[in-house]
Amino acid sequence: MQSALAQFVNSIVSFDSRFDEGRAQVGNVFDQFPNFTVDENEGKNIFMSGPVDQGGGCRRCHADPVFSVFQDSGHIGTIGVAGDAAATDLTNTRSPSLRDVFKPGAGSATNGPFMHDGSLTTMRDVLDHYDEIPVPTDEPLRTNFMNTIDTQLVQFGQVERLNLTDTEKDQIEAFLRTLSGQSVYTDVKWSNPFPGQ
Ligand code: HEC
Repeated sequence: MQSALAQFVNSIVSFDSRFDEGRAQVGNVFDQFPNFTVDENEGKNIFMSGPVDQGGGCRRCHADPVFSVFQDSGHIGTIGVAGDAAATDLTNTRSPSLRDVFKPGAGSATNGPFMHDGSLTTMRDVLDHYDEIPVPTDEPLRTNFMNTIDTQLVQFGQVERLNLTDTEKDQIEAFLRTLSGQSVYTDVKWSNPFPGQ
């Protein structure tokens, strides 16, 4: 039953987004998409390229075309527990898809709050988190945190700093908005299976 539910829940993403339209028009995901604005293409570049290339490195974990995280590696510094401000949990290493994190339509709101504990309210909170991941100062939590954070986020023993500008954060948001489609809201296969009740 768990497997069946997981497969069903994982299916609830739309593949009729502007990203999908653009992807169909180019040979490679790194190409500039003809249907994107300059900012959306720039946001895609930042999302797809690694921190050493002055990028966000998001694709290291949220790989296209699904943009989820399936591998068990490490946490990303989101270590809260919903409903218990004093507790910590270092075991969350997976993410749902980044498709449909924004509601469809230009300028529309997100489907947040984000992360397993709902600790990040807006998309800007998420980007600020990745830009400068807060490291706990108290021991032994600090050591446990550093031992369990995803090693891709650590360089020379320090948690990486992306140093994104406000413009770059706006561009990543513009790109993430292209990952939203309509079908998740309209396809009958995700509608009420018990009509009339
Ligand atoms: C080291 C792997 C890794 C990298 C790099 C990474 N992420 Fe994540 N991301 C995750 C994991 C794991 C979660 C789930 C964490 C949780 O629930 O506490 C997540 C969660 C998210 C969420 C919240 C999803 C939701 O529905 O709650 C967003 C949005 C997001 N990431 C965007 C990004 C962006 C933008 C970048 C690039 C700046 C990025 N991620 C880079 C692994 C990564």
